[in-house]
Amino acid sequence: MKENEIEKLNKKIIEEHEDQEIVLGNGSVDSSMILIGEAPGAKEVEAKLPFVGQAGKYLEEFLHVLELDRKELYITNTVKFRPTKISSKTGGKINRAPSKKEIENFKGYLFDEIEIIQPQVIITLGNVPLKTITGNEKDKIGELHGKAIKVNIKDREYKVFPLYHPAAVIYRRELKEVYIEDLKKLKKFKEKA
Ligand code: URA
Repeated sequence: MKENEIEKLNKKIIEEHEDQEIVLGNGSVDSSMILIGEAPGAKEVEAKLPFVGQAGKYLEEFLHVLELDRKELYITNTVKFRPTKISSKTGGKINRAPSKKEIENFKGYLFDEIEIIQPQVIITLGNVPLKTITGNEKDKIGELHGKAIKVNIKDREYKVFPLYHPAAVIYRRELKEVYIEDLKKLKKFKEKA
């Protein structure tokens, strides 16, 4: 049932973005947890799977602390294509943050995914999915990480657990300990949920 609904949604996303290389959500549609990133990178586009590149390594750590297998999660992104710009240094394509308009264009699909999966816990990675889910531009991951908040999506209340984006942990080593502490808090929260 959920499987069919996700399949239908995915078909729609692909059809409506024929000119883009789309990376769809992946994992168990029956999962009680949905993990939402920002947007796929080059490796993800190549593999057509979310979180397989450098950020995927942190995902493994995430799964290890939570004692979970990747298959037990549903993993997706706020924006389902790779936003790029040309590097002035190398002349090659590099990642950039998705624009407000791009986020707005893809938000409906994300909310549809949540409505279909109806997870017990929504885990957002970084500011982009956090602000998209809460609808509040003023929300900041630096203030909201590591504690559960409640959010209404399509007339249903969900528990949202914001975490730093793994890329932030890669660039800011001092966040590593905070990130691991947050994961432990999430594990406890999940056991109670
Ligand atoms: N970062 C994200 O936010 N999503 C991915 O799929 C990969 C890296």
